[in-house]
Amino acid sequence: MKIGIGNDHSAVEMKNQIRKHLESKGYEVVNYGTDSTESSNYPVYGEAVANAVVSGEVDLGVLICGTGVGISLAANKVNGIRACVCSEPYSARLSREHNNSNIIAFGARVIGIEMAKMIVDEWLSAEYQGGRHQARVDMITEIENRQKNK
Ligand code: RB5
Repeated sequence: MKIGIGNDHSAVEMKNQIRKHLESKGYEVVNYGTDSTESSNYPVYGEAVANAVVSGEVDLGVLICGTGVGISLAANKVNGIRACVCSEPYSARLSREHNNSNIIAFGARVIGIEMAKMIVDEWLSAEYQGGRHQARVDMITEIENRQKNK
């Protein structure tokens, strides 16, 4: 499985550690983030990973900025993206099982590296359950479609 990873200047170190962690588990990781700690703009990286996910260039995405908020907001502007900011593994798992999240986001200034690894592991081991959740996920897609027609 191919994972796209993106980050701004606040999360270079965490990105590198998460990348290493994922590679050690056999995932292929494509880096769309910055490798510089010079100030940069999180929407650039959020959009890059989001586009890679919807185009199928990668299967899933991981986004990290200071809080995970800005970079996930940017990603969620791309049609087909369901990016969820999670600071603990329970929400991460449920975001996949119920919401069919295709990007997980978190904040390098909010959580530590061990929590970040746990979140990513829990998220990647979870599977979308479909069933009763599908109608609600479809309703989110319908919101996107209504926006396109405005
Ligand atoms: C950058 O200083 C910071 O604003 C950014 O990383 C992120 O936390 C925004 O949501």
